[in-house]
Amino acid sequence: MNLPEHGANPHRLYEQAGVKQPEDVIDFSENVHPFGPPAFLKEQWADFYDLLSSYPDPQAEPFRSAAAGYHGVLKEQVAAGNGAAEIFTWLAKRYRGKRVMLVEPAFSEYRSTLESEKVHILEIDLTPENDWQLQLVDVQEQVANCDAFYLCNPHNPTGRLMDLAQLEEIAALCTGKCELVIDEAFIDFIGEHASFIPLLTRYPHVIVVRSMTKMYALAGLRLGYVIAESSIIQQLTGSAAHWNVNGLAAAAGARCFSEKAYRAQIIAAAADERAKMEAYLESMGCPSVASVANFLCFQLPDPSRSGPFFHAMLEAGIVLRHTHSFKGMDGEWFRIGMKGASAMERLRKEMHRWFENN
Ligand SMILES: Cc1ncc(COP(=O)(O)O)c(C=O)c1O
Repeated sequence: MNLPEHGANPHRLYEQAGVKQPEDVIDFSENVHPFGPPAFLKEQWADFYDLLSSYPDPQAEPFRSAAAGYHGVLKEQVAAGNGAAEIFTWLAKRYRGKRVMLVEPAFSEYRSTLESEKVHILEIDLTPENDWQLQLVDVQEQVANCDAFYLCNPHNPTGRLMDLAQLEEIAALCTGKCELVIDEAFIDFIGEHASFIPLLTRYPHVIVVRSMTKMYALAGLRLGYVIAESSIIQQLTGSAAHWNVNGLAAAAGARCFSEKAYRAQIIAAAADERAKMEAYLESMGCPSVASVANFLCFQLPDPSRSGPFFHAMLEAGIVLRHTHSFKGMDGEWFRIGMKGASAMERLRKEMHRWFENN
């Protein structure tokens, strides 16, 4: 079956799966939280409206300086992109024709951007036998052969977190010509204490990618950034389009960094829903992966029933993230983004109905 590579846009999934879309659909396949962007965006919408008619700052100010201030780095160490997704296209150009190691299963844009630049891709496979955890010995064996190693922390799709000590060990292994790219798109769901950014001064070959679309529910606005040595930033942005970040994103994104209470509320809500869901899955005998993010991967007690289950959920208006495009999960796991309490309750109700009838 040819299903979409990404979560979100459920109408595409219904079309490709050949299932008639019910009127009432809850999309658990996207990892954007359900609480919407910070309130100031709505309250001050009229001020933001005025930004539409002018060209934005070509260096994404005031966002760039705000991001630098938030992380305590120089603004020359920061570049903003039209979502973290754009930054992966810059990185792929950086490694054009070279060798890059990926961890699979992973966010599919790493591979697709690298493939379009004819990068030779090596991979380390995570497995359920190792509880989907990266084994240092695999990194040790492979890292000497590559020009870059991409890591995602916390990892998508598993939600697993590597601690800073582990990351430092990996960063130390990647000295020489291998750069370490750490995608921290979901790190905001833990907090800055888990981020590698403060360690960048000790590891100048590490590049950290961040997204504003997950924590601040700005997926439609598009905003991400990269932090690294200023010389790397200069090279990375050499091919970027002028005005690549729109004025609304630059202004709203800059304001978001001061939303401390909002962040705390989102982290608490995701953790709460994740704990309830984990308890439910355990009670039904469904294995799940210990996630720290706002999403969770699980499997049915009998994974051979995954296809009919996925379809039955679609028919019931419950859109799960299939894993046919996640190597090693191969459709026998599901990923769910944490939504509001009533949506999560409905998910459990529909799952329960299926378990009773199957
Ligand atoms: C792990 C990971 N990195 C990066 C991105 C891209 O984020 P953005 O919306 O900022 O382009 C995604 C989007 O789903 C993601 O899952």
